[in-house]
Amino acid sequence: MNIVILAAGMGKRMRSALPKVLHPLAGRPLLAHVIDTARTLSPTRLVVVVGHGAEKVRDAVGAPDVQFAVQDKQLGTGHAVQQALPLLDPSVPTLVLYGDVPLTRASTLKRLLDAAGTERYGVLTVTVDDPTGYGRIVRDANGAVRKIVEQKDASDEERRIAEINTGIVVSPTRTLEAWLASLKNDNAQGEFYLTDVVERAIEAGVEVVTAQPDAEWETLGVNSKVQLAELERVHQRNVAYALLDAGVTLADPARIDVRGTLECGADVSIDVNCVFEGRVTLADNVSIGPNCVIRDASIGAGTRVDAYTHIEGGTTGAKVVLGPYARLRPGAVLGDEAHVGNFVEVKNAVMGHGAKANHLSYIGDSDIGARVNVGAGTITCNYDGANKHRTVIEDDVFIGSDTQLVAPVRVARGVTIAAGTTVWKDVGEGELVLNEKRQVSKTGYVRPTKKKV
Ligand code: UD1
Ligand code: CA
Repeated sequence: MNIVILAAGMGKRMRSALPKVLHPLAGRPLLAHVIDTARTLSPTRLVVVVGHGAEKVRDAVGAPDVQFAVQDKQLGTGHAVQQALPLLDPSVPTLVLYGDVPLTRASTLKRLLDAAGTERYGVLTVTVDDPTGYGRIVRDANGAVRKIVEQKDASDEERRIAEINTGIVVSPTRTLEAWLASLKNDNAQGEFYLTDVVERAIEAGVEVVTAQPDAEWETLGVNSKVQLAELERVHQRNVAYALLDAGVTLADPARIDVRGTLECGADVSIDVNCVFEGRVTLADNVSIGPNCVIRDASIGAGTRVDAYTHIEGGTTGAKVVLGPYARLRPGAVLGDEAHVGNFVEVKNAVMGHGAKANHLSYIGDSDIGARVNVGAGTITCNYDGANKHRTVIEDDVFIGSDTQLVAPVRVARGVTIAAGTTVWKDVGEGELVLNEKRQVSKTGYVRPTKKKV
């Protein structure tokens, strides 16, 4: 089958310079969701009709399996489909989707495709409480579809019809060309309506069938920021309930946002207000505290991530303790049972089994061995103003508080670094390293007092 996705409209009501179909839902453009769903149906041709912001849309969703047709002027949905015709395979049916209707499920589309087969014209319809604004499905006394009438062209009687056109249709392709060519724009909006094809099909003796979605939200489109926010909530609720169904404990399914994929093992629990971005994997028995942001990370079994932890790329082993207020950046790799505590930033660094940095530290471009204790306020000075260098700390090193390690530098196994040391030369195995400095105490010191004015 061919799939055509209409995405040429401007989306004036979004009040934004960004083309409507590029506004993100769950962190990805609306249109990307539609393309994903289309791909699950394995179309022979996948064509996106672009117009407003065509270049931006191409850049955002371009892929080898996606072709673009340009509709310079938005003369209506029928005219839009017409622009895609030269790119379609006439021997198979064409399914029309909308770039601003992101949540339609493949199962619903399959039902429509099954109903239409290769010879019939199929319309996805839904009966709603408030049909205002939509095209209405007009049926005859036998219940057969006679036509679709737009809100602005409908009589009072027609406006009372609650069954609406979702806009999603499937048509035999060979006949579609002539039907589209015969459309007129003598209607309230002066547009070439795709909906008028229904009457052409009936005239040609082609049966018009309908199918319904499992849920109404599958057919909802985005025309405004309000609708975008509403669909975001629908999507997040769906994701949250799928996690619950899979056995994940969520403190509140209304307070989790997944903008990408979140894979969870058994007995994972997630507290409120967590955001997951990109690809995140949580192994068995991981617990995530409240208010964490976790992106592109793999968290090992039994790891505890405490409140306000921010991970933007990183891998942890098993039984790691992170946070509260820890930050992992790309290239952070923590061994089993490592601890990274409050206000500790780890970037492009490996921490060995059981290594601990519990307070107020920066560990960048480093290799930290097993069981190393990183004292509070330790800084790896990895940047000389021009280049980054590596710090290597071997197993069982004890780093006293307030230490600076000026890279490149290597501290061999078992070294003890006294508090307040600046280490800028390599240190040999088992040594104690300190900077000589004297502690001076003076008697009779008088503190300044505030001057009276
Ligand atoms: C359309 C249907 C209406 C249906 C409703 C469902 C027609 C005439 N009407 O109305 O029956 O109930 O969708 O939401 O089809 N587009 C283009 N080029 C154009 C015009 C539109 O690409 O020239 C795209 C838009 O970007 C949008 C989609 O087609 O993604 C629908 O267009 P829109 O103007 O929103 O259609 P409606 O008037 O809502
Ligand atoms: Ca319109």
